[in-house]
Amino acid sequence: TVKAAQTARLDRARLALPLQNILAIAAQQAEQRGWHLYLVGGGVRDLLLADPDQPVTLNDLDLVVDGFHQSADVGAGVELARSLQALYPHARLDIHGKFQTAALLWHNDPDLDSLWIDIATARTEFYPYPAANPEVEASSIRQDLYRRDFTINALALRLTQPRANELLDFFGGLLDLRSKQICVLHSNSFIEDPTRIFRAVRFAVRLGFEIEPQTADFIRYAVSTTCRARDACLGESGRVVAPALQTRLKAELKYILQAPDWKPALKQLSDLGALSCLHPTLALDAELWQQLRLVDRWLRRFDPQQMFPHWQLLLDVLLARLAPLERGFVAQTLQLPKDSITRLTTLSQVQEQLTEALPKAPRPSQVVQLLKPYDVPMLMLVAVRSSERSHRQQIWKYLTRWSQIKAPLDGHDLKRLGYKQGRQFKQILERLLAATLDGEFGDGEFGERGGSDAASRARAERYLAEHYPLK
Ligand code: CTP
Repeated sequence: TVKAAQTARLDRARLALPLQNILAIAAQQAEQRGWHLYLVGGGVRDLLLADPDQPVTLNDLDLVVDGFHQSADVGAGVELARSLQALYPHARLDIHGKFQTAALLWHNDPDLDSLWIDIATARTEFYPYPAANPEVEASSIRQDLYRRDFTINALALRLTQPRANELLDFFGGLLDLRSKQICVLHSNSFIEDPTRIFRAVRFAVRLGFEIEPQTADFIRYAVSTTCRARDACLGESGRVVAPALQTRLKAELKYILQAPDWKPALKQLSDLGALSCLHPTLALDAELWQQLRLVDRWLRRFDPQQMFPHWQLLLDVLLARLAPLERGFVAQTLQLPKDSITRLTTLSQVQEQLTEALPKAPRPSQVVQLLKPYDVPMLMLVAVRSSERSHRQQIWKYLTRWSQIKAPLDGHDLKRLGYKQGRQFKQILERLLAATLDGEFGDGEFGERGGSDAASRARAERYLAEHYPLK
């Protein structure tokens, strides 16, 4: 039996005008074909949470078409997307997979900005009844919503007539929005899709909600039976993991780690035991926490423009906590970018080499020589994991100053002074740079000034005359 939905009305007029227009046109197209159309998922949630006095802009809309008939309309979503694209030729149409879902994408459109509309067809296969029966309509959209993650994401706003603007709430999502609860629809939800564990935490932290206690128990149960014990998550080497799950898990981790509130999110994931979904041995102990905070501080000071993806480096630090042989495996399983996989696979070797060599490198030029083969993310990773303060300081100075220092004279100067190009040329330039780094031309601190000022250049020329006299 189909439970009647709690209905309420939601005023679509609160949406920004271009969005209202496109939804009205989509609804018209659906009505002409005798279908119902719903806005579902995050869009409805965000519309309900938004400030009632401000127009709401959504970048990501999920629409579900209810085509009613048993099999004839399984492609209803795709057909609707095609009809919309004919009216909006600037939009790109992508059709995916055997479930026949379609996406319309606008890129930098003057009115619609970067809008993304997913259009799916509600599952109707179990309800071979005529279209006019409201119970059938209710059951297929209900069925579609029941497959979703949380009650607050399982609300639907009907866009088509009759009863347009009616909010369908079969599972108590409205109440959970008001009482700020993240609540699953059924006990198996996290076992069916472990990425929802990460989504629960992501929404809780982002919206300032609480994970409802029974839902938290379901998470712990899923972690202990599925993630920690076996194969649904990433597990240990040698396990085969569904590629679609890895991609979605990586996407969720990225969302969490690139959000400004990644710290409480990670803490909550750890409290729920969910980090063991990445690897059974991964735990957020005090040392790992310290490393994560440190890399975050370094990234913010050293790379405020976000030249490297910060989330990726945070994840590298997390995974570097695993045993060396497991790091690369988990990075590969998660399909992390190639540079992360290389970093995590070679980390223990680099760390060993630098731990041995850095104490024997008191001069800046020696530090530069040692560190220049490595890129910035690798050096940050080594630094935050090092237990030696002095190593961190050497790497920090290298990154912030020494790696940018140039000698006061370059190749053109050498030529002007009468040196001939050849093997010695390169050697002289290297020597000049080392002397600059070690403060031999400056008048100040050890290695603090390179300087292309006249005094430094004159000192460098005297140095050349003394050490490399022209024949
Ligand atoms: N969904 C789900 N289970 C998942 C992922 C998604 O049930 N593992 C459903 C939810 O109903 C969700 C909708 O698909 O609302 C769209 O997914 P997504 O775009 O990832 O989430 P949003 O809720 O739109 O969140 P966001 O605002 O962060 O994009």
